Amino acid sequence: MVKICCIGAGYVGGPTMAVIALKCPNIQVAVVDISAARINAWNGETLPIYEPGLDEVVKKCRGKNLSFSTDVEKHVSEADIVFVSVNTPTKTQGLGAGKAADLTYWESAARMIADVAKSNKIVVEKSTVPVKTAEAIEKILTHNSKGINFQILSNPEFLAEGTAISDLFNPDRVLIGGRETPEGKKAIETLRDVYAQWVPMDRIICTNLWSAELSKLAANAFLAQRISSVNSMSALCEATGADVSQVSHAVGKDTRIGPKFLNASVGFGGSCFQKDILNLVYICECNGLPEVANYWKQVIKVNDYQKTRFVNRIVSSMFNTVSGKKIAILGFAFKKDTGDTRETPAIDVCKGLIGDKANLSIYDPQVNQDQIQRDLSMKKFDWDHPVHLQPMSPTSVTDVTVVWDAYTATKDAHGLCILTEWDEFTKLDYQKIFDNMQKPAFVFDGRNIVDVEKLRKIGFIVYSIGKPLDDWLKDMPAVA
Ligand code: NAD
Ligand code: UGA
Repeated sequence: MVKICCIGAGYVGGPTMAVIALKCPNIQVAVVDISAARINAWNGETLPIYEPGLDEVVKKCRGKNLSFSTDVEKHVSEADIVFVSVNTPTKTQGLGAGKAADLTYWESAARMIADVAKSNKIVVEKSTVPVKTAEAIEKILTHNSKGINFQILSNPEFLAEGTAISDLFNPDRVLIGGRETPEGKKAIETLRDVYAQWVPMDRIICTNLWSAELSKLAANAFLAQRISSVNSMSALCEATGADVSQVSHAVGKDTRIGPKFLNASVGFGGSCFQKDILNLVYICECNGLPEVANYWKQVIKVNDYQKTRFVNRIVSSMFNTVSGKKIAILGFAFKKDTGDTRETPAIDVCKGLIGDKANLSIYDPQVNQDQIQRDLSMKKFDWDHPVHLQPMSPTSVTDVTVVWDAYTATKDAHGLCILTEWDEFTKLDYQKIFDNMQKPAFVFDGRNIVDVEKLRKIGFIVYSIGKPLDDWLKDMPAVA
């Protein structure tokens, strides 16, 4: 029986391996991690991540051909194929700080594989890594190999959170990069045969190592660029009276452009878009391509501008101060259907409002108080480390309360902000919310999910990104 081991039981390692186990009953899959708390949760009733459909898949395979363990060395030494899906944070210190990928966890995983391996192995890069990482990994493995043969493959993951299980069941493509040698080609075939058990062959793309590594960074950069493009248009829509939803619809109808990923928002978040673009920028700079680096940097700058613009709209429309005012924050996760808050725009918006001395009352159906406190007190980039290695926040943020429903959050509030597009926020009783708020009552919709006209009829002053402005807002500056 083929044995697979995956190092890293996170948002990628957990769901990806669970789906491989489900689709390949003839393969034994072990997922290992240095975080005992995470492994315990994978073995328990409440899984460590919220992802629609994940529970069912895990419960079908766990105890059969899927296991979760902290015994990293045992499972790595027994495996034929080792996936590495550990954190690849942005460096916070030293050369490339604030841009380059920190490969500490990757390197320590590679050294451990070399240490414990007793038989030939295929080592698969599942984490998103800089181009040419495979070469560095190959060097670590071969210089410590004791005669064992290692083949390195790049197999980047394209799943999106909230739809991870359906993305894994039915991927647009699976990408496998490897060496163009006979051994490299054989390793590619071995991994291809795993995916071929449920993915049509024409969706499995095989390339050289560097194309696979770069394609992952390029795909995330292209996706993020679409969002920054539409968000830049949202600012112009507000200035001109155009409606960004109508513009997106009209632009997206062109089959060459397509309709997806054109929703204007308070800004993109998530663990990867910013990190991967910074990484791409750094690689361009290292390769003497400053013009290319600057082009991609702009995608992040527009995203930062969008978040600042949103905060400025709130403050300026509420008489230029939110000091001492209660603002309800509906949604904290970086998108709906996930409890993940990594790089969520809510962090920057909340910090901006707290900076102006607002009192925040936050509600998110999947995010608890501890997580929100950690996020609001942690330094930039510190979040992307294994949980038990993250610095503890020295103090909690006092101007914030976290509540468990939208009505409590909005009671007596001066304004409410929608920062995540949870379906339940479209179904709220906004008349009841209005009746219980201070007047004038403001709604700031960072996801364009409310019925603006209906809310204006109730009596709210409404700001919805990229939509024609209320008279109240027209004279307010929106500059960042
Ligand atoms: P994560 O933080 O959820 O999981 C990483 C896990 O690796 C953690 O549980 C950590 O404890 C563990 N780990 C770190 N070093 C280890 C070691 N030496 N031995 C054993 N375990 C170790 O991260 P994630 O979201 O799953 O992302 C992992 C990689 O996949 C990143 O490179 C990311 O860019 C990429 N990626 C993420 C997504 C996503 O949607 N989250 C999608 C595609 C690609
Ligand atoms: C993204 C990519 O979509 C995945 O293909 C990739 O594998 C993954 O990053 C990764 O490498 O980590 P994810 O971050 O989980 O997936 O979620 P997305 O659906 O891409 O959303 C990212 C952010 O963009 C969210 O904050 C979302 O709200 C925002 N967004 C998305 C918009 O503001 N407008 C849109 O039209 C689409």
